[in-house]
Amino acid sequence: MLDERLPLFPITTTVVTTEHGGELAVDGQPIAGLAARFGTPLYLFDQATLDDAAARYRAALALHYPGPGGVTYAGKALLNLAVAQWVQQQGFRLDCTGAGELAIAAAADLSPDQLLVHGVNKSAEDLAAAVAQAGVIVVDNRTELARLAGLAAAGQPLPDLWLRLRPGMAVETHAYRQTGQDDSKFGFAPAEIEEAVAFGLDRGLPVTGLHFHQGSQFRDPAPLGPALDLTLDLCQTLAAAHGWHPAVICPGGGWGVAYHEDDLPQPDIESYIAFVARRLAEGCAARGLPLPHLQVEPGRSLVARAGVAVYRIGAVKQTARRRWLLIDGGLADNPRPALYGARYSALPVTHPDRAVTTPAWLAGPYCESGDVLIEALPLPQMAAGELLAVPASGAYHLSMGSNYNGARKPAVVWLRQGQAHLIQRRETLADLLARDLPLWGRE
Ligand SMILES: Cc1ncc(COP(=O)(O)O)c(C=O)c1O
Repeated sequence: MLDERLPLFPITTTVVTTEHGGELAVDGQPIAGLAARFGTPLYLFDQATLDDAAARYRAALALHYPGPGGVTYAGKALLNLAVAQWVQQQGFRLDCTGAGELAIAAAADLSPDQLLVHGVNKSAEDLAAAVAQAGVIVVDNRTELARLAGLAAAGQPLPDLWLRLRPGMAVETHAYRQTGQDDSKFGFAPAEIEEAVAFGLDRGLPVTGLHFHQGSQFRDPAPLGPALDLTLDLCQTLAAAHGWHPAVICPGGGWGVAYHEDDLPQPDIESYIAFVARRLAEGCAARGLPLPHLQVEPGRSLVARAGVAVYRIGAVKQTARRRWLLIDGGLADNPRPALYGARYSALPVTHPDRAVTTPAWLAGPYCESGDVLIEALPLPQMAAGELLAVPASGAYHLSMGSNYNGARKPAVVWLRQGQAHLIQRRETLADLLARDLPLWGRE
């Protein structure tokens, strides 16, 4: 169990010997000690694992793409002040969805050339923040483009505009995470892209790129091939009709990670980038097109493996067919199992090498029968008070979390070179009431 599951955890994860015997540690820091210091549920992020994934993207682009390339981190996967600072240190762009994420980026002092804004229905506030702060807006639809044209006509300088193409094909993943299909809510249809470029050129708008994103958590890059071909066919048409070439092509993000031992080996970042880079370079050569800047937009594959969620078992219960381990987090900090059946694994924090006995169901404290974080996972006998560590918890947990049942969002700790830095304190009872105003008793 231990050897099988360790590759799901951050790259610095080891079993160390403490006064309690063998214990899981990340970055050399025993998890039990961190849980005692910061409480549970607790989210740990290992910088060495983040840096490693970032380096893999950079190296793969440099090795496999003959033109210029770059990485945009998709902030929707996980965003807070420390993550925004890390993105800046990596020299990546940060993709923000709307004014809220842009405010976090502003707190980290990211400059316009480091910021890109997405959104399928950007509000007036989102667009105003994007125009003021970002170097790129990825335009989703005709209405948004017309609004931007209106701003330009009123004298507002615009950042670069990339048009989001809906290529008509998605990657293989859960239906809720597919975005590239014909009837998806995201982006322009291919024929609309031609119109949008013409519309933009007529009005002198800075339309400089094409973007598509076919879905999230895939491990077979094959569907990106026809989408890239379609994009380059469009480029050929646009070059012939308008003399227009995109300076940038972005095939989005979505590369997957392993959540469970059955998902191993970890999907390889280099082979994904090599596939995209080759297809784009060969496609350009075959059509006589100039090589665009290749910008990729990963979220999950940069941050998921770096994150570990730590829970304490509060009670153990046996029902007719199930051994329940009732833990102190779940649906409110990780809605993915309830949302789309995401399948996770876990290890006991102390003596993680114990032999497994029977499958266990890990359920949270929230008032939904769907608040089951992990189903039927082989685990050893475990008692109330013990800790469990859930790997691959860095993406789309905290960013999708809630205050359901009055849950307070967990503390988040950044591990770097043997030091633990609290980067988000645990929410307090006062935080729960911070926005509320009384209806009675105000006079
Ligand atoms: C437009 C866009 N880009 C990038 C991403 C990042 O996807 P992932 O975190 O799976 O890499 C998403 C997520 O769905 C997205 O919608």
